[in-house]
Amino acid sequence: MLVGARDPAARSRNRYTLLTLATVLLSPMSSASTQQPPQLGEDPIADVVAAMTVEEKVRLLVGMGFSMDMPFLPPIDPEDAKIPEKVPGAAGRTHAIARLGIPSLTLADGPAGVRIAPVRDDEPGRAYHATAFPVASLTASSWDTELLGTVGRAFGQEVREYGVDILLAPGMNIHRNPLGGRNFEYYSEDPLLSGRLAAAFVAGVEAEGVGTAPKHFAANNQEFNRLQLNTIVSERALREIYLRGFEIVVRDAQPWTVMSSYNLINGTYAPESRELLTTVLRDEWGFRGFVMTDWFGGRDALAMIRAGNDVLMPGYLQQSTDLLEAVRSGALSEGHLDESVTRVLEIVMQSPTFQKHAYANEPDLASHAAIARRAAAESMVLLQNDARALPLASRGTVALFGNAGYELIVGGTGSGEVNEAYVVSLDAGLEDAGFGIDASLRDEYRAYMADQKAQQPEPPMPFFPRPPISERPVTAERIAQLVRATDVAVVTIGRQSGEMTDRELDDFTLSATEHALIDDVSAAFHAAGKQVVVVLNVAGVIEVASWRQQVDAILLAWQPGQEGGHAIADVLRGAVNPSGRLPMTFPLRYADVPSADNFPGEVIPGQEAPAGPSLFGVPSRVTYDEGIYVGYRYYCTFGVEPAYPFGYGLSYTRFDLGEPELSATEFADELRVTVQVSNIGPTPGRDVVQLYLSAPGIALDKPARELRAFAKTRLLRPGQSESVGLTLTARDLASFDTGRAAWVVEPGTYTVQIGASADDIRHRATFVVPQELVIERVHNVLTPEVPIDELTSPDR
Ligand code: BGC
Repeated sequence: MLVGARDPAARSRNRYTLLTLATVLLSPMSSASTQQPPQLGEDPIADVVAAMTVEEKVRLLVGMGFSMDMPFLPPIDPEDAKIPEKVPGAAGRTHAIARLGIPSLTLADGPAGVRIAPVRDDEPGRAYHATAFPVASLTASSWDTELLGTVGRAFGQEVREYGVDILLAPGMNIHRNPLGGRNFEYYSEDPLLSGRLAAAFVAGVEAEGVGTAPKHFAANNQEFNRLQLNTIVSERALREIYLRGFEIVVRDAQPWTVMSSYNLINGTYAPESRELLTTVLRDEWGFRGFVMTDWFGGRDALAMIRAGNDVLMPGYLQQSTDLLEAVRSGALSEGHLDESVTRVLEIVMQSPTFQKHAYANEPDLASHAAIARRAAAESMVLLQNDARALPLASRGTVALFGNAGYELIVGGTGSGEVNEAYVVSLDAGLEDAGFGIDASLRDEYRAYMADQKAQQPEPPMPFFPRPPISERPVTAERIAQLVRATDVAVVTIGRQSGEMTDRELDDFTLSATEHALIDDVSAAFHAAGKQVVVVLNVAGVIEVASWRQQVDAILLAWQPGQEGGHAIADVLRGAVNPSGRLPMTFPLRYADVPSADNFPGEVIPGQEAPAGPSLFGVPSRVTYDEGIYVGYRYYCTFGVEPAYPFGYGLSYTRFDLGEPELSATEFADELRVTVQVSNIGPTPGRDVVQLYLSAPGIALDKPARELRAFAKTRLLRPGQSESVGLTLTARDLASFDTGRAAWVVEPGTYTVQIGASADDIRHRATFVVPQELVIERVHNVLTPEVPIDELTSPDR
């Protein structure tokens, strides 16, 4: 909806605001000449807040700086458009209030790298590229908190040296369904893995003196009608699955900010929910930073400030008008503004801009490229490796099939996109690694891609993904020629995805051309005794069960960032031994997904879109009736066989996981579990120890097992061992009891399960909790308005 565009009352309110803002801009000069007002950093924050006019407070809380021209967006303050951009292409800014020494904060996306404009009008010939790191689904596949910390530091340095204060990342929503359009920006289907990896990333970024914004808080796991989608979810599923990762990142890493999400949760917009942003986030978890909206998120500015959503991004005129009027009429107390302003100022004082950091626009892109390459290679997941097809035995000539072989998809689209300086394609990466590439085949693909790109329609809107280029068909005759000319076939399968739309089922399955390519290449190369390797260059989970038996090896490279071609080649030739493990389940078929029947939800019949920015879409709802049975919690509990289970991944070596040693057989405050990991294969490598727990289900229904701890070994040489220690706290044993609004550990026998995946448990050991423990009493909040017919385990 166009706020104020056709509404005369709104237009007159906007004029009123303009006058008010003009007064604010002019008035400081006269008072400054008589008396110096308090200055941020020199005087206590409370004095600065006390000296602020209501207009200045509102100005600080309503952001600015959205530079994309989209006609349906609500009008912004025209004065804002005159304020020069500090970092062109950044997603937004807060206002400066110069008379009080308050500078403007610059906020830039995103989860795969710093998204800023690569060129500036006033500086022809100078580039501002940022590193395109691997997407979050790939770094999450590392299961390596240390790696996430290293990647975080590289991000942080880039953020700071480009003059940005806050990075709009990490994305932490849950992979509830493989078709979620932004899954690539998020880590996992499991909240513990998401939370721990995010906490390590946040700590890394913030160690560089800049802020982060874990997003999108909360239950924003799809794109369908995203500004109008009511997520209907039980308190238990919310607490255990959808909030838990955010809770971990807040408690462990205390990020500078949190970004609230677009959707409603049980009938209330997330940014308007005081229960979410104050009761849970601040009172229960102890969050001390500020909350910002997602861009144009929320509808009612008053409700957002009252809820504790401090900053409205990217800010529009109507919000300022509404807040000023509300304070004047008494509908909103100035105390609410003061709380938010104080929180913002506390963060402003930590910012590099406030600290007057002299950034040179010269981040260390060369060393960050090396980090991006290492992170990508170390995180890739080897899904299949029959007869040790990989690593490739010799540097022969590769017949490289598939569009993505020549046009690597390095990241997703939308706010998670990065303007990188270059991309190492797979053909280039293989050549740099000493392989030959069949040049005639390359020429054919290049010509095809150039031709298709020329015909590709523009996306319907900026931020939207372009329609994909269909896979190029290759005839059986042509494949037969290539078998003779080359030593091995590498077939890429590419998938793009991005903000604003979810994936369709035909993006999950392979197209007829892709199937034919795999069939024909496999038949021809195998007939000649030559191997076929598939590289999945995908944004999300795809169907593998119908074709995997035809090929020798499958490497899941996700969207590997700008150094992707090198990183894939590193793994294919064995310079890096893959140690990634799946952070989500690959189902045998889409129908097996627990949310298959209730994704992406439905349009609510007969409801009009309410006034306010809609960014298209109509009121819709989705009911999470699978409850806590998301991902492996479902497959393991209901005995549904996946194609590849959560936690799965092969290596070029073999590991032996020893029997777990428990520090006690009876649980007191915490329990230490030690596992000896030995490399019993031929190659140096790293393993991941996964500790699942199965808990007695007395009053509460419990999944068959849940990941409660994990750790990655260092690089172990053949014959070498490492003793890996994992700690279980009472909180790791607890489930959420909605009736009591408490985290409860039920008494009884708990089984520690040490596995190579959620489906491959190698050892079990038990301990006892002698009596019930109530770990933490919280509040009943975000309660569904309607009953949910939730899934329960089969033995209930
Ligand atoms: C996205 C956010 C992003 C913001 C600013 C929104 O469309 O949902 O993730 O940070 O834009 O670009």
